[in-house]
Amino acid sequence: MNLKKQIVGSLFATLMLVSCGSTITNNKSDKGFDVDAQLTYCVKQSSDALKLIPNDGTIPRNIAPDSKQWKFVDYKDWTSGFWPGELWYLYESTGDQKWETAADKFTNYLAPLSVTPALDHDLGFQVFTSYGNGYRLTKNPEYKKVILKTADTLATLFNPKVGTILSWPREVPNMEWPQHNTIMDNMINLELLFWASKNGGSKKLYDMAVSHATVTMNNHFRPDYTSYHAVVYDKETGKKIKAVTHQGYSDSSMWARGQSWAIYGYTMVYRETKDPKFLDFAHKVTRVYLDRLPKDLIPYWDFDDPTIPKAPRDASAAAVVASALLELSTYTQDAVLAKEYFDKAEAMLKELSEHYQSRDKNTALLLHSTGHKPAGSEIDYSIIYADYYYVEALLRYKKMKAGNAPLLTYSFD
Ligand code: GLY
Repeated sequence: MNLKKQIVGSLFATLMLVSCGSTITNNKSDKGFDVDAQLTYCVKQSSDALKLIPNDGTIPRNIAPDSKQWKFVDYKDWTSGFWPGELWYLYESTGDQKWETAADKFTNYLAPLSVTPALDHDLGFQVFTSYGNGYRLTKNPEYKKVILKTADTLATLFNPKVGTILSWPREVPNMEWPQHNTIMDNMINLELLFWASKNGGSKKLYDMAVSHATVTMNNHFRPDYTSYHAVVYDKETGKKIKAVTHQGYSDSSMWARGQSWAIYGYTMVYRETKDPKFLDFAHKVTRVYLDRLPKDLIPYWDFDDPTIPKAPRDASAAAVVASALLELSTYTQDAVLAKEYFDKAEAMLKELSEHYQSRDKNTALLLHSTGHKPAGSEIDYSIIYADYYYVEALLRYKKMKAGNAPLLTYSFD
């Protein structure tokens, strides 16, 4: 196959990088972080994982502590896009067609999502990590069709009286169904709507995404910019009924992954809108997270769990934030702040690489993520979304060290 790397990435971000006076120039930093070695590790682990996956339409989701056995799920699971997304990133990293073949196979498992009614808001997670990355790298028109159809499906959950997407269209404890619930995680799904609106889909998708981000900004945060996991709204009047947690320690605590979705989400919404109010907000939700991190920069699963330092960590939140911080560092003219973000992202990646890699324990990339502690589920596990954002962050870091924008796009043709 004729592989040609074609740089079509963000000039804006590159200029910001230069204007911030960044002196990032090579892949091995002064602190000795060897990103190529970590990517080689990811290739080795994922090659081993690939051999363990049955050829039956299932996709790896997690591995319990002290086990080597993946739990597999089908395309309906909210995590179904992360494994194909990870494979697309490995294709981007290596140019090896083996990864394209594997990524295409697992991506296609998710096709039914575009032609069935929305089970919930996770369609953006599922389809933009898999088909989104696949289309970015291959320009396969079949992938584009699936992305556009899925964006329209996700849009069916938008309630104009509230101004947000309904996250869980079903009975969930404490959500007062059939009132309208929205969870912080939902911010990530907006990327699918933004992309579709700019690539042949309805312009209304853009307006829905902006509305969702704005209403969430106004209702999902405490005065110190820590986030509530879930907000329940009256579905007829749009009035806020209550703000509560689902996966966090308590209604008033900062659940680590929820805050990581806010950091990543508002950084992405600024990228897509260029509206300074979203940039300002991204900085604020980032500040409180960074200021409250433990020394090693890997959060406990909830910042307010009273059992800290014995509480479990959440490597997945660290990976999400490392990736977001690299991007956010390119959106500020404040060179000191840009450097703080970049250096902290680098330190997070270094810590994850030195102390959280699975190595010979199992074939995932990272250990020690926490999925849903209140439900007793996925505590201190290897979880596929931690791996996805870890590879994404490594690739962003590598691009920035080479003097490029973190989201510089490579397409293979
Ligand atoms: N519900 C998505 C998450 O666990 O972050």
